[in-house]
Amino acid sequence: MTALVANLPVAVFATAFVGVAAGAAWACGTSVLAPPPADDEEAEEAVEAPSPAYPRAVALVTALVAVAAVPPLAGALGDTRIDLGGGVYDLAGTGAALLIAAVVALLAGLLAYRRADDRRGVPLVPDLRAALRGEVYVPPGEEPVEPEQPAATVRNRGVFIAFEGGEGAGKTTQARLAAIWLRDHGYDVVTTQEPGATKIGMRLRAMLLDRETTGLSIRAESLLYAADRADHVTNVIAPALERGAIVVSDRYIDSSLAYQGFGREQPVDEIARVNEWATGGLVPDLTVLLEVPPRTGLNRLSAPADRIESEPQDFHERVRGGFRALADAEPDRYLVLDASRPQAELSREIQYRIREILPDPIPLGTEDATHTFPAIRDV
Ligand code: TYD
Repeated sequence: MTALVANLPVAVFATAFVGVAAGAAWACGTSVLAPPPADDEEAEEAVEAPSPAYPRAVALVTALVAVAAVPPLAGALGDTRIDLGGGVYDLAGTGAALLIAAVVALLAGLLAYRRADDRRGVPLVPDLRAALRGEVYVPPGEEPVEPEQPAATVRNRGVFIAFEGGEGAGKTTQARLAAIWLRDHGYDVVTTQEPGATKIGMRLRAMLLDRETTGLSIRAESLLYAADRADHVTNVIAPALERGAIVVSDRYIDSSLAYQGFGREQPVDEIARVNEWATGGLVPDLTVLLEVPPRTGLNRLSAPADRIESEPQDFHERVRGGFRALADAEPDRYLVLDASRPQAELSREIQYRIREILPDPIPLGTEDATHTFPAIRDV
């Protein structure tokens, strides 16, 4: 609207108003993003926490680009005289450039709102009105949660995150770091791996990875991995998810699809079917795929190569292509990362992505009683 005003004093007041509003938005945004002050013990981690420098830098660059781009744009657009029938309206080039900037800002704002919306599906205005009254808005038709209702019935399922990748991609390290981060935020976390997370699984693992195992048929190999997975789901993953824990698994079904399917050149849909049956159809909420060229990954390994690792280079190339194809087919459920990037950067991206699927660590009833909700701040 400021862009459309042709009267200087009105434009000055309108600009001052826009400035105050922008300043308030900036102050709110930076305080929400700022990491909490770290005490000594946490100082080391605080270094790892993303700093508000990133949004600051983005804002600065945007401002510089705007300063550089608006004058030439205004010049190019030139002044326009619009005939309104009864009179004329002079739209200056600067006004038109500002209008374009406003539309861009509006779109960016909408996008940011959609990404940052912590209560999807709840309309903004009634939610704000309720917040002003100190209440929590409940959309009509949704029964308010009874405070005496135990949390377990409200949230009876946890979150399942799988880490996948070829040899030496650093999955194990990233899975561990993600689990530590989640525990720090008060979540009940179960870290586990395939093959060999259960007692039976350990025996299957020995069979599968021992280089002394020779002549194992491809179907038997696929079934042994699926058997390990069935035991893993029944005895470790499903009970943990039922009690609402976050399960972080180093490898899951995709490893069978990539290694036994793509690597061994077997029909992937058949292996998927066997595994669906073995797991009762349990699919991770998020799969983090760490990508590394097989040559680099295999060179990173310190222990002597096991039965699978000692497969030829082209086998590992097919495995890599297989993982990629799986991720490309379902981009919403995957986070694909280049494993050659610095570890801290990878952890941070993984944390960003995991945050999107996390339930609130505090039972709903507690929030209703205190009218506040905790925010995870170190991102
Ligand atoms: P592991 O020592 O756990 O390897 P990594 O440290 O690379 O995760 O051994 C698992 C090996 O088993 C690995 O080479 C991949 C292979 N594998 C399959 O071939 N199919 C599967 O379904 C799974 C889970 C693993």
